[in-house]
Amino acid sequence: MSNPIKRNELLKPYSRDHHNGLLLCWNIKVVLQKNIELNRISNYVSSFWNSHLKAHFLEEEKYVFTVLPSNDEHIIQAIKEHNSLRAHFEKENMDIATLQSIEMELNAHIRFEERLLFNKIQEAATETQLQQLNEHYNNEYKEEWNDEFWLN
Ligand SMILES: [Fe+2]
Ligand SMILES: [Fe+2]
Repeated sequence: MSNPIKRNELLKPYSRDHHNGLLLCWNIKVVLQKNIELNRISNYVSSFWNSHLKAHFLEEEKYVFTVLPSNDEHIIQAIKEHNSLRAHFEKENMDIATLQSIEMELNAHIRFEERLLFNKIQEAATETQLQQLNEHYNNEYKEEWNDEFWLN
């Protein structure tokens, strides 16, 4: 087993976003097993995307992924996954299949970033790069969603 690498302090805000993303996946998974109107779920998923995750993807692409060369295989994979997720989140009518794809792909994407890509990035980054990506972080998740249908 490889040694766990401690997450660099300067990358931690991005990792906190990952925690929120995993919660979104968990809520989708739970509610899809219940009989809840689809638009209550899709409104919440769209709001999470628009108020939070969309900016997280952009900040990663601009300031985090650029630590590694753009032809790095894992950067190529990460961007491909972002694009696939973007297409799902921005779909006009989110059906159950779209929500299931979001849940599966986002879960896998976050685990890939946390277990592999972020370790690779923090090992390759200079202190200045880490400072810069930390300063550019501007995406704290604050929104309280008042329709907590997953508790029903
Ligand atoms: Fe991420
Ligand atoms: Fe990402």
